[in-house]
Amino acid sequence: MPGRGNRRIAQCCGPAIVRHGAGLFLAARRCVGAPPSKNPPAATMTTPITWQDSHALGQAEMDSIHQGFVELLARAQSAADAELGAAMEALYSHTQSHFARETELMTATALSSRKEHEGDHARVLGEMDQMRARAVKGRVAFVRGYVNEVLPGWLHTHLMTMDAELANACKRAGIGAA
Ligand SMILES: [Fe+2]
Ligand SMILES: [Fe+2]
Repeated sequence: MPGRGNRRIAQCCGPAIVRHGAGLFLAARRCVGAPPSKNPPAATMTTPITWQDSHALGQAEMDSIHQGFVELLARAQSAADAELGAAMEALYSHTQSHFARETELMTATALSSRKEHEGDHARVLGEMDQMRARAVKGRVAFVRGYVNEVLPGWLHTHLMTMDAELANACKRAGIGAA
C-alpha cells in the first residue's frame, strides 16, 4: 500500500501503479462514481503516443529504433483486451533488440556512462517482462496503467538524457549521423 517513500505513478480508472524502491505495486482503487471494472475498455484510455520531432536525436539508427518503439507502444495502448498480450510480447521483443543494439553502440563509443545506461535498460526490461506476463494472462488493468502512463514518461526522460548522450557520442565517432 502507498505510504511514506512510495510514489504513485499511474492511475487510469483502475488499480494504481505505485513505485516502491525498485518495484511496482498495485495500490487500492481510488476512483469514485462509476462501478469498478476489472478490465476497463481501451476507449477510456489516453490518446496513443505518436512520434514527435522532439523525440529525434539526430542519429539515424537510434531514431529509427525509437520510432519502432513508439509505434509498438501505441499499438499496446490502443489494443483491445484480447490483443494486449500479443502487443506486449511484440513491444518486449523489440525492446530487447533495441537495448542490445544500444549496448553495441556503447561499446563502439566507449561510453563513460555505460553502467548507468545499461542499468536503466535492465530495470525497464524487468518491468516490461512482468507486464508482458500479466497481459498474456489477461490481467490487463495493471498493464494499461503501465503502457499509458509509466512507459511514455520513461521514454521521454530516457531519450532526453541517456540516449541523447549515446547519440552524441555516436555522432562524434562518425556513427550514423542523420
Ligand atoms: Fe533507446
Ligand atoms: Fe537507452
